[in-house]
Amino acid sequence: MLTHALIGDDGGTIELGWQGGRRTRFHAMWLRDNALDDKTRSAGNGQRLITILDISADTKISAAAIKGDALEISFVPEQKTVSFPTAWLSANAYDRDTARGAGWTGEDIVRWTKASMQNSVPRAGYAAASRDRTVLRDWLSAVRTYGFAVMDGLPAESGALCKVSDLFGYIRETNYGRWFEVRAEVNPNNLAYTNLGLQAHTDNPYRDPVPTLQILSCIENTVEGGESSVVDGFAVAAALQAENPEGLRLLSSCPARFEYAGSSGVRLQSKRPMIELGPDGELICIRFNNRSLAPVVDVPFADMDAYYGAYRRFAKLIEDPSFEVTFKLEAGQAFIVDNTRVMHARKAFSGTGKRWLQGCYADKDGLLSTLAAIEHGFKEAAE
Ligand code: FE2
Repeated sequence: MLTHALIGDDGGTIELGWQGGRRTRFHAMWLRDNALDDKTRSAGNGQRLITILDISADTKISAAAIKGDALEISFVPEQKTVSFPTAWLSANAYDRDTARGAGWTGEDIVRWTKASMQNSVPRAGYAAASRDRTVLRDWLSAVRTYGFAVMDGLPAESGALCKVSDLFGYIRETNYGRWFEVRAEVNPNNLAYTNLGLQAHTDNPYRDPVPTLQILSCIENTVEGGESSVVDGFAVAAALQAENPEGLRLLSSCPARFEYAGSSGVRLQSKRPMIELGPDGELICIRFNNRSLAPVVDVPFADMDAYYGAYRRFAKLIEDPSFEVTFKLEAGQAFIVDNTRVMHARKAFSGTGKRWLQGCYADKDGLLSTLAAIEHGFKEAAE
């Protein structure tokens, strides 16, 4: 599918032409560093066997030849010839001129609102998910795409939430324990343990790194009210950006501070923005929690009014019912949220009956790894 390979810049680059007219350039240094031969990459685990310092700073391409489904490239001064599959070159091409603005998200992520999500909450049964890789794949994939999912059919007993994390990874233990109780208590020292409603929030922004997944399971819920709700922080951030780009800039470029010192021997502190963008503008994390926001001291004096205006507007949008998806967790049900994206809230409930939930943290890299491994396995089986 390659139509031509033209060496340019005295061997510093190469331009590849593809059937259909697409052109992609590569640098000699990049190609040499990413060579796929078994002296550069371990045939066993794919890990690189050389360092950047093993490659001459004067590396150039001396010759290139299209050979079927591969491109053969010779490098000087090394006098090394390496073959690159054209499919690999196509998949790893980096020569694009589409400049992406702040707040973009990858193809795997679909933002949602109440209108698009209330009647299609992703869910799976525990028995099916633990037995059938297709069911598990779809459930994990929903977490990747939408940032939350519900699981039914768990035993309504203490610790059942570990069965959910066991499906894809590991619990992240914290000072709250392997898991923690969420139930009404007398003399609560944390608002989660009262029967008041809770503003939509992400959990534990005072940790660095923040727990990237939270699982909440229900053992008993016979109270009036006490529904759970979730809000797509990425959708809200986009709404804020659409009406106030400067507000998004302030909340993403100025660090906020979060802290928790509610138990003896614990003083957790972090300095991270409420809306975190990657170096290329990708929207990567929302931290939003009124209870643990510490004094923000990293905003220039001249910007503080505008910062608070943006914070207020962000909070207002988060409370806008059009972003909120609500469901009541029944005994034996759990839900998982991507704690870097989806905020969760609880409606107020009355004192009659009991509401007993348990929560735990886990990590998204493990979930995405399990998902990718299942998808890879299915692809191999299909080939
Ligand atoms: Fe929470």
